[in-house]
Parts: sequence; structure tokens; C-alpha cells
Amino acid sequence: MKFKDCNLSSIDEFIEQMTLEEKIGQLVQKTIGRTENLGQEKSINSDLFESIEAGRIGSILQSASEMFEEVMRAQDLALHKSRLGIPLFVNSDIIHGFGTIFPIPLASACSFNMELIKESAVLAAEEAASAGLCCTHSPMIDIARDPRWGRIAESCGEDPYLAGEIAKAYVCGFQGEEISPNTLLLATLKHYLGYGAAEGGRDYNTAEIGENTIRNFYLPPFQIGIESGAGGVMASFNTIDGIPMTANNKYLDDVLRKELKFSGIVLSDWTGIAELMGHGMAKSPEEAVFLAFGAGIDIDMVSDFYEKFLQNEISDGRVELSKLNAAVKRILSLKLRMNLVGRYEKQIALKSKPVVFTERARQLAKDLADESIVLLKNDNVLPLRAGTTLLLDGRWTHCRNFLGCWQSSAYKKHVESLDEMLSRRNFSVKDANKLSENEKLAAAAECEYIILTLGENENESGEAASKAVLSLSEEDQKLVSLYKSCGKKIVALIFSGRPLLLEKLCEDVGAVLMCWFPGHGNEAVADILTGEINPCAKICVSFPRREGQIPVYYNHLSTGRSAHGRETEKFVSRYLDCPNEPLFPFGFGLSYTQFEYGPVNLIRNQNDFFVVCQVKNTGKRCGKEIVQLYVRDCIACPVRPIKELKGFKKIFLEAGESVDVSFKIDRKLCAYYHAARFDADDGEFIFYIGDSSISENNIRLLLQGENFSLAR
Ligand code: GLC
Repeated sequence: MKFKDCNLSSIDEFIEQMTLEEKIGQLVQKTIGRTENLGQEKSINSDLFESIEAGRIGSILQSASEMFEEVMRAQDLALHKSRLGIPLFVNSDIIHGFGTIFPIPLASACSFNMELIKESAVLAAEEAASAGLCCTHSPMIDIARDPRWGRIAESCGEDPYLAGEIAKAYVCGFQGEEISPNTLLLATLKHYLGYGAAEGGRDYNTAEIGENTIRNFYLPPFQIGIESGAGGVMASFNTIDGIPMTANNKYLDDVLRKELKFSGIVLSDWTGIAELMGHGMAKSPEEAVFLAFGAGIDIDMVSDFYEKFLQNEISDGRVELSKLNAAVKRILSLKLRMNLVGRYEKQIALKSKPVVFTERARQLAKDLADESIVLLKNDNVLPLRAGTTLLLDGRWTHCRNFLGCWQSSAYKKHVESLDEMLSRRNFSVKDANKLSENEKLAAAAECEYIILTLGENENESGEAASKAVLSLSEEDQKLVSLYKSCGKKIVALIFSGRPLLLEKLCEDVGAVLMCWFPGHGNEAVADILTGEINPCAKICVSFPRREGQIPVYYNHLSTGRSAHGRETEKFVSRYLDCPNEPLFPFGFGLSYTQFEYGPVNLIRNQNDFFVVCQVKNTGKRCGKEIVQLYVRDCIACPVRPIKELKGFKKIFLEAGESVDVSFKIDRKLCAYYHAARFDADDGEFIFYIGDSSISENNIRLLLQGENFSLAR
């Protein structure tokens, strides 16, 4: 039976006729080759096509978009030359776009706009599918509280609720409401689990997280991603409590399979199986294979260990054939549900070409960037007055690559630079980059504004890009020091994939825009500077004042000696040399208008309860506001954070307009994992509705059963 004649009811019969080598082949993922993307010559793995024809490969991984011809050749071989005609999974890391690159995930998370994020996933899936791909290693939903960790750039920040909402948006955007022949891209939730808790923020490092913390902070986004129908999960490089995730039976089998009922496929991360030896868990490749397969890794990403050693583990009886058949069935079931045969037959027959980087795609990137760039400070400096003279200085003035990490696009520099964008908006732009210090100051004297472009290069964040020092570079600090006393309005634009230390900068300049890496939507920077767009983003990760505060995050526990309200006491939890609070807290972001929040009230409508608050635009221009709901469970075990995000609504108000914003509350919203169950305790809860995680606008309620009442 050829795969094209197989269906979900005949899949067992199909698997029975597969050879052991063909079965193991489905568990093998190889790269299709290297591309210029990594600054190297494009080269295709020489033995790849022969292995595909022999049925020894089940999925191929590409790291850039200009591999379309090779991908289609590989798929043609799999379908028409291999014995059974099983199509390949064609994977890539489509983290924030494929041909069209959207703002990095840490930026788009600041939009709190799930519709736009979902739309960006749909568009990325359309582009990728047109280029022959069908699986992405995305969304990355690791909770990230540590800006020393370069991969915070790929994350949705520090909050589980926001990360869960984003996971849902990406999974549904990539796959549709369920996995079907209409699914363009299979989503792979990563990195399971706790990767963002790497000690010291050092990539690939040990993670020490207790069960309750895992359950209440790190696992929830994955639970939501699975409930949303994600087809894949990727095991992370790190250990939890000394057990590498790639061989972690507890979390891969007991929790993921048995408790969360995940029926999709589990991939190792890049050479993760081989790294069990590096961890010191496996003394041989054979043992690494035994441990990884036994824990539940279905697909071996490029370590070749399954290809070389799994057959013996089965022949020698150490791995049961039935477990191999089950893994193969999970893989083939997804290929059937996506109808990969029909899809690729059509794509090969039509010789269709990739459709990427369209005007619609670029506009969506711009729309998302408009809502991802955060106004952190504005002492009446922005927006810029039209027609004025600007002095531009800093590394990003002429830069055209705003793509950040995971830039798989072939369109890296197909955008205007900042000076071109501002010149086109009728500003007179003076470029000071090549001037001497005296010439810079002389030029500044003739300008109304100084625009400084500061931060990191795109390769200073992302994978294997951890940093112990988060202050601005010497070069950037020198620029700020040079101009800070010249009596001009100074605007700092920060381009980076992580929060940087900005306390000193904020003392020296009048306005700070956190631009992150806006991708192909970089024109949003110019439109926000000119006021064409009113910034509305709010940070999804806390900005520390010092590295020494890290990890610093809003949803922390109280401790028995909270310094809150006891700042002058000695024996409380605080530093001698730095405030506890971050420079900018989770959920913070400014607008060109102002919003006022009324008191929080409780409303009952039959058996439903709501907390509601009036929000008014008291400024002079319309704008969007991200209204946030936080909850504190006052008495619990394990103890609960001082507050947790449990809802948000992005509203639009004309100047002077007000609206009642309500959030439905129920027992489930107050639940947490404790004593091996997920439920709420009766008792006192504080509900906050505000413009950031430090808002104190709240109401105290008593939860009894399913009912809420005012706490006395
Ligand atoms: C990398 C990353 C992972 C990615 C994989 C394939 O090491 O950890 O996120 O999907 O390799 O590129």
C-alpha cells in the first residue's frame, strides 16, 4: 500500500508493511543544507536526496527561505521515488515571519493585540506554505524573566496569561481551528519546559524550578497551546531538577502525554539527544537513544542518533517495537490529517512559486509594529514638530536591517533607513555620524531635535547570545553624554532584543522609544516620531535598573518580609544600594494622550459576576489603551504572587470619550495548581483594573463557592 492510498483507518495496516528502517526513517530529521542566512555559502547535504529516496528521512529542516527548489526536489523524491511515497515534513523556524518579517515576538507581545498576532501567523503560514514548508518550530512560549538570556527576544515575556493568549493566537493562525487539510503550518510549541529559567540567564544552562512554580508559571502557556490544538512540542535543552528535558519521563510522559493528553509529536531540539552525553546522563549514544526514546522523543532533530542506533535498541529488545509503531503512527497521522500528499502533489504539478513580501504582508508588519513600539518616556518632546531640523546620530541611522533574530527572510534590507524615512516626512535631517565631536555639537546647535539611535545589533540577542552586562555600549553612552548638555530636545530610539539598563539614559534625554526590532514594519518608528501613529504598546517584560536585580518581575511572591511600605526598615527584603522595583514595570507604556481610571466595582448579573471600571481619555487626541486585570489571592498554599494578570482589553477612545470596561470573574479565574489539583480556595481576593502591573486601583472581594461579595 502506498501512503497516498492510506487513511486514518488503515494506518496500522500501512505501518505493518513498513520495514524497520522505514519506520525509524520517519523519526529522523535532517537539515536540507546550509544557506547564506548563516553567513556561509549555500550548500545542500550531499547524501540527503539518496536518504530520502531510501525512506530514511521523515522530515527536513531548512533555515532560510531561498531553498524552494531543493525543498520541492526533496518532496518529489519522497512522494515518487521512495518505496511507500510518504511525504516529508518540511520544517523551519518561522518565529516572527517567513519572507515578511514581523516585529520580534517580545515586541509583538507588547501590542497585547491577539488579532494582529494571529493575522501575522496566518500570513507567515501562507508565505511559508507557498515556499514548500508545512511545519514551524514556533510559537516559542518560554516564560522569560531574565534579560541576560538572549532568547528573551523570541519570547512573549514574563507573564503566563499573556504567553498563553499568544500561544493560542499563533497556533490558530498557523494551523486553523484544528489540524486538517487546510492547515498550512503545523505549530510546534517550544521549548518544553522551563528553558527561560536558565541560571544566570546563560543559554542552555541548568533550570532549578519547583513543581508548583512550573505548574503555575511555566506550564500554563503550553497547556493552552495544546488545548488550541498544536500538533508538535519541542523538548528544551535544559535540565529541570537535574534531569535533561530530552529524557525527562515525568514531564514528557506523565505530564505531557498522560495528564495533558497531548497526542501530537514530540521533537528533540537541535542534537538534543546527543547532548544527553554532554549532560552526563548517557554514557553512550545507544544509551542516549534508549533514554530519549523511552521518555517520549518522537523525532530526532539532526543528531543522527536514531538513524544510527535505534535499530539495534529495537533488535536487542531494549526498545519495544510497539513503542516505535506508536511514534510512527503519531507522525503519519499528522501527515494524513494535513493531507500532505495532496498538497505537495498539487504544488509540484503546478510548479507554483513562493508568494512572499507582498504589499499586504508589509502593511500587516507595519500595523503590528505600530502597536509594538513602547513609549517609555516623553517629557513633552514627542511627537516631533513638523518641518523642523533633526540631527540623527547612532548606529541605526542608515541601517536597513531591522529584522532581529531568526531572520529567515530573503528580503533583509528591503526597507528605508531612518534618515530616509524622516527626510521623506519633510524634516531637514542632518546626519552627524561621521562628524567630530565639535562638529556634532555645532550641527546640534542648528537643530530643534536630536534623535539618537542606540541599542544592540540583531546578533546580540536570540540563541546563544546571553549577556552579563546590559548597559548601553560605551559608544552609545558617549553619544548621550556628548549631547545631553546641548540644550536640545533629545529622543532616544532603542533597538534591541531585550530590556537594557536605561535608568541613566532616562535622566539625560527627554523621550525614549523602545523599538525592539520592528522587522519590515520599521516605518512605524517614523510614524510614531511624527505623531502619525499614537503609541499604545505596553511592556511584556520588566526593565531592571541593574543587572543585580535580575530576575525582577511583577508577579513575584510577597516573602515574609516584604519591603512594600517598610522601605526604611532594615530587616526586610530589599537592597542596600538599589530599589526593589524595576525601572519600568510589566504592563507599562505611555501614549500621546492620557487615560483616567475610575474606581473598580463589582456587578452581578444572575449567576455571573463582573468587575468593572470606567476608563476615560482625558487627553487631546484619540488613542488605544490596554486595560489590564490583575488578581491577588490573599491566602493560599503554595503562596501566590502579589498579583497576576488575568485579563486585558485593548480599547480605542476618542479625546474626552469614556467607556466602562468589564471583566467576567469566576472561580476558575482564581484557580491555581496546588496539592495535585487545579482549583481556587474560598477566601479574599483583590481585583485590580489599571494601566500597568503597579496600578493600585482595586476592589477586595470574598469568594465563597461560585459567588463573590464585597470583602469587609
Ligand atoms: C535551535 C533552537 C530551536 C530551533 C532549532 C532548529 O537550536 O533551540 O528553537 O527550532 O535549533 O533551528
